Amino acid sequence: MKRTVLVSGGNRGIGLAIVESLAAQLDDILLLGCRNIKEGQERATSIGHNVHAVELDLSKNDVLHHHISSIMKKHGRIDVLINNAGVLYEGDALKLDESLFYQTMQINAMAAYELMRACLPGMIENNYGRIVNMSSGWGSFAEGLGGPFSYSVSKATLNALTHTLARQVPDTIKINAMCPGWVRTDMGGQDASRSPSEGADTAIFLTNLHNDGPSGRFFRDRKLISW
Ligand SMILES: NC(=O)c1ccc[n+]([C@@H]2O[C@H](COP(=O)([O-])OP(=O)(O)OC[C@H]3O[C@@H](n4cnc5c(N)ncnc54)[C@H](OP(=O)(O)O)[C@@H]3O)[C@@H](O)[C@H]2O)c1
Repeated sequence: MKRTVLVSGGNRGIGLAIVESLAAQLDDILLLGCRNIKEGQERATSIGHNVHAVELDLSKNDVLHHHISSIMKKHGRIDVLINNAGVLYEGDALKLDESLFYQTMQINAMAAYELMRACLPGMIENNYGRIVNMSSGWGSFAEGLGGPFSYSVSKATLNALTHTLARQVPDTIKINAMCPGWVRTDMGGQDASRSPSEGADTAIFLTNLHNDGPSGRFFRDRKLISW
């Protein structure tokens, strides 16, 4: 089956590694979500003929809705959604500017919810869908909700969305969350232990799950981990 795959934040870091890796599966059409469309188009062209840049800014819901409807008008149904884009701001709850908390919740969790809501009806109609939510061990209660306040709360919210939404869709649709490990990107820094393609590996695995595969679960290194 020829699938249309949308990757948010596909222009750099782990998202770019996901696009590059999936583009090698030549049957898939890759939509590289980005904010700077000119840069995104240059990236897409350099990766392959099955990669197309699409404008996808998650900062505000009205802009996001406009971008989602343009993408669907041009490319039709999304079969695979990878909610990868994310931000991380340092700061404890009482010291952080509250606008940064709301911005983090919007980009890391609410926009992922909006994208899932937009893509799920088409997936349900087609009896096929794969959604990968790029979370973090810092969003795991079992691992202690470490990391900066707004980041860990937003990723815990993304985990909760994954767990609950997966129960409310047919089992031909797989919605899972994952932690990529500590990855050498602008967010992870250059001392991180993993390359972007190592960080992308579990996402590729989850997009290729069979119909009897798991849903509503949390993964690292292709293995289940605790919420
Ligand atoms: N790196 C790690 O060690 C690590 C560990 C655990 C989880 N993660 C998660 O993995 C995902 C990717 O992280 P990364 O390390 O690749 O980060 P990164 O290199 O900083 O890239 C972040 C991506 O998100 C996009 N983005 C940020 N704000 C956006 C917005 N308002 N609208 C649309 N796109 C936006 C960026 O686009 P622009 O270029 O336009 O800014 C960029 O493509 C994130 O969800 C992160 O939380 C990373």
